[in-house]
Amino acid sequence: MKLTDLRGILQYIPQFREKTFILAIDGAIVTDDNFATLMLDVALLWSLNIRVVLVHGASAQIKSLAEHHQVKASDLDGAGVTDATTLDLALTAANRLTHEILEGLSANDLRAAYANVIVAHPVGILQGVNHLFTGKVERVDADLLHSLLAQGVVPVIPPLGFDGDGKTYRVNSDGVALAVAEQLKAIKLIFVTAQDGLIYRGTLIPQMLVGELGRLIQQDAGGFAPEMISKAQHATAACAAGIPRVHVINGTLDEGLLGEVFSNHGLGTLIYANEYEHIRPAKKKDVRAIQLLTKQAVEAEELMKRSRGVIEKSLGDYFIFEIDKNPVACVALHVYPEENQGELACLYVSSSHENQGVGRKLIQFVENKARELGLRELLALSTQAFTYFQSKGGFVEGTPDDLPPPRREKYEQSGRRSKVLVKKLG
Ligand SMILES: CC(C)(COP(=O)(O)OP(=O)(O)OC[C@H]1O[C@@H](n2cnc3c(N)ncnc32)[C@H](O)[C@@H]1OP(=O)(O)O)[C@@H](O)C(=O)NCCC(=O)NCCS
Repeated sequence: MKLTDLRGILQYIPQFREKTFILAIDGAIVTDDNFATLMLDVALLWSLNIRVVLVHGASAQIKSLAEHHQVKASDLDGAGVTDATTLDLALTAANRLTHEILEGLSANDLRAAYANVIVAHPVGILQGVNHLFTGKVERVDADLLHSLLAQGVVPVIPPLGFDGDGKTYRVNSDGVALAVAEQLKAIKLIFVTAQDGLIYRGTLIPQMLVGELGRLIQQDAGGFAPEMISKAQHATAACAAGIPRVHVINGTLDEGLLGEVFSNHGLGTLIYANEYEHIRPAKKKDVRAIQLLTKQAVEAEELMKRSRGVIEKSLGDYFIFEIDKNPVACVALHVYPEENQGELACLYVSSSHENQGVGRKLIQFVENKARELGLRELLALSTQAFTYFQSKGGFVEGTPDDLPPPRREKYEQSGRRSKVLVKKLG
């Protein structure tokens, strides 16, 4: 690990300190080789004063127990009908898993406790079908959770609930995680699964605004794998209930959890309730940010030096790429109306966010703007990133003759001898 990675992590600490994360772990992950690393990562989060609550599922274990005993489970994930045999399997599987999690946490010197906090009632009869021992979360005993957390104890919650008469019901672990996250006003709900994240029609969704995910589920739920649709639905519900960030990660990957939590672009899926990254027009207060952002590139002669006055004069041409309200990149589009050409300029991505597609997003953004304006051609001048514009932006090498006359004059005067790149927009 590099020291600069540590700096990257440190920027998140004030944001996360004393806040609550809910980790909803699929049963299959508990028996995975990476489980010990995952528990170590939980210990690391605790050491940073992040309160972590663990909720777990049990469907993989119910399935194998049913096979072992040669009985048929009426349902695996607590969403369908739970008959008496399946409840029995669920109790055995869940107790075993809770125990394994407690073991994993104590191996990392964490104090942990089985938290009996889910008050449930039977789902009852739906469309004429009695769901028997399948329960619905009625209430979460938040007081008990708060007192455990205050004493530095990690609560571990199985997918089981009790009613007032002490009867046990099998509840869906995604539903438990959502209810707990809502009650504790968690800032993150993280589904730890055996998949890379939410995959829609074969492609991983790296990040998505909740409204967009809601639309996808409504219009094409079949585009998600059946075992992931519940995660997608609960992610949507969680954001609607005020949880700002929901992650779906692969718990079998070494850096799955930390990579997702301590980076603006993790390996899994992030569903966010509000604008997380966006491109916006620069404001006067951004002039300094633009200068600070581009300072290094100016020194390395990658970008032309621009004074405060020069930026202010054409401030309307500049755009800022923000991640969680931090400016991490910038770009400008200068328009030459007479020649019907545009120049993409001052493209810079801060080194902490390089190689994550931000540059490409900004090129695409400027290109879209240029098309909206009906420009015929987009130009870019670059000394050290010309192959980038060619391979990632679809530009081709041009000559200074392609530049509009006023720009050509400045080009000759600067002596920078940048390469001229052109993209026809027709
Ligand atoms: C060039 C720059 C904008 C790329 O931004 P970015 O967000 O890191 O790039 P993306 O994530 O969109 O693309 C990354 C890809 O581009 C390649 N790339 C990055 N910089 C490159 C360069 N200078 N030349 C050629 N390829 C480059 C990476 O190797 C990576 O390739 P891969 O996807 O095949 O692995 C950024 O490195 C930068 O700000 N450079 C300094 C300023 C500059 O030169 N600006 C252009 C002049 S206007």
